[in-house]
This record gives sequence, structure tokens and C-alpha cells, in this order.
Amino acid sequence: MSTTNPPTRRAYVETYGCQMNISDGELMEGVLAAEGYEIVGSPEEADVVLVNTCAIREHAEQRVLGRVGQLSALKRERPDVVIGVTGCMAQRMGEDLLGNGGQVDLFMGPDGYRSLPQALRSLGAPASRAPMSPPPAKRTRQLAVLDLNLVENYQGLEQRRKDGPSAWVPIQRGCDHRCTFCIVPYVRGPEKNRSADEILREIRGLAETGVSAVTLLGQTVNSYRWEEWSFPRLLREVARVDGIRRVFYTSPHPNDVTPELVEVMASEPAVCEMLHLPAQSGSNRTLKRMLRRYTVESFLEKVELVRSAIPDIALTTDVIVGFPGETEEEFQATLDLMRTVRFDDAYTYKYSAREGTPATRLPQEDFLDPDEAQARLSTLIDVSRGIQAEINQGEVGRAEEVLVEKEARSDGHVLGRTRRNKVVAFPGPIEWTGTYRTVVLERTTGATFVGSEVHDPVLAETV
Ligand code: F3S
Repeated sequence: MSTTNPPTRRAYVETYGCQMNISDGELMEGVLAAEGYEIVGSPEEADVVLVNTCAIREHAEQRVLGRVGQLSALKRERPDVVIGVTGCMAQRMGEDLLGNGGQVDLFMGPDGYRSLPQALRSLGAPASRAPMSPPPAKRTRQLAVLDLNLVENYQGLEQRRKDGPSAWVPIQRGCDHRCTFCIVPYVRGPEKNRSADEILREIRGLAETGVSAVTLLGQTVNSYRWEEWSFPRLLREVARVDGIRRVFYTSPHPNDVTPELVEVMASEPAVCEMLHLPAQSGSNRTLKRMLRRYTVESFLEKVELVRSAIPDIALTTDVIVGFPGETEEEFQATLDLMRTVRFDDAYTYKYSAREGTPATRLPQEDFLDPDEAQARLSTLIDVSRGIQAEINQGEVGRAEEVLVEKEARSDGHVLGRTRRNKVVAFPGPIEWTGTYRTVVLERTTGATFVGSEVHDPVLAETV
């Protein structure tokens, strides 16, 4: 008697937002793969389509709502397809969208992914791809999995990572800070850390499969604590895992940049010379109203602490302009901070009111005219790009160790990153992916570099 296995169910996950959300997308793919789903590269091939969303700014949400609208057309053609909206926007808006979410079957917040298979079963996700006709009756049921969970840190679940030399490793979820502009604590709940043993086990496993660069992830990653483990201790142990030669972490809170952490960064060869240090504003009054819990002066002390131990470190930052009540003088103070620190790169944003966050309750007259806020953002971008171009121009001629990540757009070139996280394109075959090369930076486009490989006998021995 011959038995045939049912055709495989297929799932597609499309992710928006930050690295933590990208990592969550990998987690969902892992959960689905463990359940027997094949992960596919387009919604047209899939039985289950998940749009993994971000809620940090209104613009990000509008983009996702547009995308969900497009996917509705797919559902009209194939009513058996299950469409889910997951992530931070689902958590923020799920209840409101229930009943009028168009063709969406499932809303699931960032703490619900362990129950994804169960939720899909209860929605009647197809057991196989075979019985496609007759199409099921129009689905009327929607499911919302939106409870925040005080302990869920996804311990024990495996992410499905793309092949390659680099991996994101979440060590923490949620956030205990309450910056008044930020939606994250409301959609991801309080801080929950993973066990240090499990993190280290995972990284050793990754190293055995050829991963040599890891980025530790958390909303305020350097506030990590697990029993007697602090973040500096964890960072040191990660940096000493056999096979790991690059360690990054993001995003730290400036207040948890301590002498102990800086000492680990300076003394562990695998910890890279790069630090993302979100400033948000250069005005003490704005910082206070943002509830950032540091001053410009103490922020500059952190910069000094890091630069005195690691003079060559690349610093990047986040800045918000147009926070309610920000005066022209306070905006100028932010520009002054940019010119004083001279960040290698800056992620710049216009304040976006997020319902439920404390800043939305500031007096209405404090909210800036959108054109004024946009003008401030444009000025900030000009200043920040100008500084970046000057810094990068000064680095032309340097020889840097580059980890090759992928094929570049221009023929016969590959793309990689230096230890200071700068992107370099240079001639080379795709087979170099995952290897380390010594590259001379020959010119800069302002933000990135073009270079060429030089033979480095020291590096050649270690590759
Ligand atoms: Fe990330 Fe956006 Fe959520 S930035 S934490 S996906 S709100």
C-alpha cells in the first residue's frame, strides 16, 4: 500500500520596523517551520501570510495598512488564505481593527507568537495545499491574540535565520523605561531578559554553523540582567565564544553605559568599535520632558568615557525633532550637540504623536506646525549628513577588515561591513560571502565606501 504525504503548507512573513521586529519575524518563521510549514518568498505562494508590523510612527502604520489592503486582493482570489497582522501595530490597533479589518483573519501582538500554530489551526488554516476547491464559505471569524505577557521571552524556541555570517540574537524583550514619546513599552510590555546560559548556548550553536558575527538585541540592551549576570559580563562571555570574531549590540540606553561596560568593549578583541548611543535631543528641557533621565552634560560624559577608552570608535545616534514645545533655541541646541559629538551616522525623525503615550497629553498649543517640524528635520539631516561625509572622507585611504555579506548591485562586486559597521563595496566574487578581507577604502559616497582588496598575510592566516 502506498502512502503519500500531504503537500506542505506554506507561510510567508513580511516584516517592517526595527531589528527586534526583524528578529521576531525570524522567530515566527522558526515556529511555523517547526509546525511543518515551508517558508516561502512571496505571498502568492503562501497559505498563511503574516505582515509583521511597526507602530513607532504614524507613517510606518499607514504604509502597513496600505500593504494589508493590497493583500486583500489576494484573499479575494483565494479565500482559503489566512492573513495575519502581527507585531507592534497589531498590538496597538488590533482591538480597533477587529470587525472592520477588511480581509484580516488574525491580529497577534509581540507576546503571542508561541501560540501562532494553535491560532492558525483555530482559524482553519489549511492542513495541506490539496483541498483547494470548493473554496470555504466566506470566513466571518477573526482572532485577536493581544495579551501582554509579563514573562514571555521565547525561551526554548528557535528562530529561522537566513544563511550567512551574521545573526541577530535577542537577549531581552520589552522596556522598563517610559520615554514620553515612545509606544514600545505599551506594545511590548515590561523588560524580560533571557537566561544567559541559553543565550550562550545559542551563540555557540550559531558559531558551529559558520556564524562569526552576532548582534545582541534588546530595547535597552545594556540594562540586561539575569540572576548574577550583568550586560558587561554577558558581553565578555559572548566575545569569548570560539568562532565569534565580531560582536555588536543595540540599542543601549546612555545611562547604562558604565565604566565596566566600556572596559569590556575596550579589552575584548571581538567586541567591535561601534556604539549606537541614542541622544534624542540636545536640550535639557526637552530631554526632561521626554523623560530620558539624562542631561546633555551627562550624555557628553558618556561619549567622553567611550572615546577615551576606544578613540577610534564609530558613534551613531537617534534624534527626534519637533517634540511638543521644542523651541527654535532648543532645536539649535540639538544641532550644537550634533556638531560637538560628530556622530558617524544619525537616524533622524520628526516627532510622531502615538496615542496613549504621555507626550500626546501635552497642551495642544505645544504641538509644532508640521511644516516647521519638517523644516527642522531637513536642517538636521543636512547637518548630520555633512558631518558624516567629512568623517568618511577622512577615512579614505584606511585599510579595514571587511566581513563580506552579499553580492553588491554593481556586477562583480560584493558588499561588506567594517568593524565600525561601515558599508563597503569592492570587486570580488559572491563566493567570498562570509569571509573576512582586508580592503583599502578608496572613495566615499558620503554614507558608504568603495574600495579594493589588498593581500594581508596576517588576515589570510586567520580566514
Ligand atoms: Fe520596533 Fe517599531 Fe515595535 S521600532 S519595537 S517594531 S514599534
